[in-house]
Amino acid sequence: MSDNKEKIQELIHRREEAKLGGGQKRIDSQHKKGKYTARERIEMFLDEGSFEEFDMFVTHHCHNFGIDKETYYGDGVVTGYGTVDGRLVYVFAQDFTVFGGSLSESFAAKICKVMDMAMKMGAPLIGINDSGGARIQEGVNSLSGYTEIFQRNILASGVIPQISAIFGPCAGGAVYSPALTDFIVMSKGISYMFVTGPKVVKTVTGEEVTQEQLGGASIHAAKSGVAHFVTDTEEDGLALIRKLISYLPQNNLEDAPLAVCDDNIDRLEDALNELIPDNPNKPYDVLDVIHAIVDNGEFLESQRLFAPNIVTGFARFNGQSVGIIANQPKYLAGVLDINASRKAARFVRFCDAFNIPIVTLVDVPGFLPGTAQEYGGIIIHGAKLLFAYGEATVPKVTIILRKAYGGAYCVMSSKHLRGDINYSWPTGEIAVMGPSGAIEVLASKEIAAITDPEEQAKFKAEKEAEYRNTFANPYVAAKYGYIDDVIEPRNTRFRIIRALQSLATKKLSNPAKKHSNIPL
Ligand code: HXC
Repeated sequence: MSDNKEKIQELIHRREEAKLGGGQKRIDSQHKKGKYTARERIEMFLDEGSFEEFDMFVTHHCHNFGIDKETYYGDGVVTGYGTVDGRLVYVFAQDFTVFGGSLSESFAAKICKVMDMAMKMGAPLIGINDSGGARIQEGVNSLSGYTEIFQRNILASGVIPQISAIFGPCAGGAVYSPALTDFIVMSKGISYMFVTGPKVVKTVTGEEVTQEQLGGASIHAAKSGVAHFVTDTEEDGLALIRKLISYLPQNNLEDAPLAVCDDNIDRLEDALNELIPDNPNKPYDVLDVIHAIVDNGEFLESQRLFAPNIVTGFARFNGQSVGIIANQPKYLAGVLDINASRKAARFVRFCDAFNIPIVTLVDVPGFLPGTAQEYGGIIIHGAKLLFAYGEATVPKVTIILRKAYGGAYCVMSSKHLRGDINYSWPTGEIAVMGPSGAIEVLASKEIAAITDPEEQAKFKAEKEAEYRNTFANPYVAAKYGYIDDVIEPRNTRFRIIRALQSLATKKLSNPAKKHSNIPL
C-alpha cells in the first residue's frame, strides 16, 4: 500500500472508531433504555447529509484515578454545524456512551468552540443534553468547563436563539446551561432535570421521591414551567425544534423568515361574532380565537401546561412570524397570577429580543387576589410582565376581546405601554374593576342599609347594570383614543394583518443604558 493510501486508511479507521463513541456495548445499552445516541440524534435533527463535525479526534487530558488509560475519540460530545430547512445552525449532542456523557475540560472546550462559532456567524445553537454531569475525575477542570459554557450562554442570550433538548439526565449545576437558554424541550420517560437528585433530597429533607417525580418531563411541563415543550419521543422533540426554528430569525439583527402564505388574508370568521358568551362570567377557549385568525390555524404553543390561564406561542399572519400572548378565560377566568406573569414576561422578552412582533389578545379580570399570591410576590412577578411589555420595541398589536380590568388592563400591552395598534371587540369591558366589585365599593353603605335580601339583590343588579352601561364597554376607552378602533370580531385576522403590515417599518428604541433592572 502506498504511503498516502495507508494514511487515508488510518483516517477511515480513526473515524470509524470515533463514530462508535464508548463502544457498541454501550450503544446497545443506550438503545435498550429507549434512547438514541448523540450521532443518531444529530442525523435525525439536521437536514439530511448536512452535518459537518468538529473535533472528532479530541480526547481528555486527565490522569486522575487511572482515567488516562481510558480515552475515546470525541470525549463524550459530538459537535459541529449543519442546516435546518437550509438555514445554518450549530449543534452539540452529549454522548452518554462515553463516561456517561460527563463533562471534562476537553468536552467543554468543544462546546465552547461551537458556541463561539454560532455567535460569530449569527446562527442558532442547539444543545442536546444527556449527561451524568461534571466528570468526577476532572474535578475543578470540569467545573471551570461548565462555567465557561454558562458565560457564553449569557453573552449569547438575546443575540442568537439558544435551544436545549434534554434527552437523558441533566443534574446538578449542569441544569444551568439549559436554564440560561431560550427554550427547553424534554421527552417523556427519558429526561429528567434537577439541581439535587433523589438521594441527596432524602438525606437533606427526608423526602422520598423518584427521579420522575422530582424532575421528569411532566413535572417541568406543568409544575415548575422549566420545560417549554414536552414530547412523547425524541423524534417528536427534534421535529419540534426544527419547527420552532422556522419561526425564529437567525440572530437579533435579522427578521424571522417570511413563509409562503396560502391562507386568505381577508378570510372572515363569522363564528367569532358569536364566540363571546352573553354571560360575562362564562368561559370560552381563547385557542378557538387564535386558531381562527392565524395562517392555516397553525399555532406552536409554548409552556402549554404551565400557567394555562395565559397562552403563549408562535404563529404567522400572512407568512410573518409573530408571538401571541392571550389570557385564557377557560382557566381561572384568565386571571394574571405569579406563574402567568412570569411565563408571559419571558415570552414577551424573547420576542422583543428577536424582532418578532407581538399580538396580544386580552380577556383578563385582573390579578389573582389572596395571601398565597401576595406572599409569593405577585407584586414583583406582575411587574415583570408590565416591564417586559413596556420595554418591548417590536410592533405590538393588541385586541381586547372582553374584560380588561384594573392593573391587568394596563399590563396587557395597553396603549399606555406603547401598544402600537390597540383594538377592541364590541364585547370589550374596560374598567377599573368588574361590576360586582365596583358596586361593593361604591355603594357599600346603601347596600348595607337595605335589610330585605331580595331588595338588596335587586338594588345591586340595578347598580351593576348602571356600572356596566357606563364603563364596561369599549367606547369610553375609544373616546379617549386608548383604543384605536372597535372592530367586528370576524374581521380580526384581516385587521391584524393590516396592522402588522403598517408596522413593518417601525423604529423605536429605548434610552441608552448599560441594562435595565427588571424586577427579578
Ligand atoms: C464520570 C461518570 C459520571 C460522572 C456517569 N459516569 N456519571 N463518569 N463522571 N459524573 C460513567 C459511569 O461510571 C459509567 O461508566 C457510565 O458513565 C454510565 O453510568 P451508569 O451509572 O452506568 O449509568 P446509569 O445507571 O444510567 O446512571 C446514570 C446516572 C449515574 C444517574 C447519571 O451515572 C450517576 O448518578 N452519575 C453521577 C451523577 C453525578 O452525581 N454527577 C455529578 C453531579 S454534580 P462505565 O464505564 O461503566 O460505562 C455536577 C456539578 C456540575 O454535575 C457543576 C456545574 C457548575
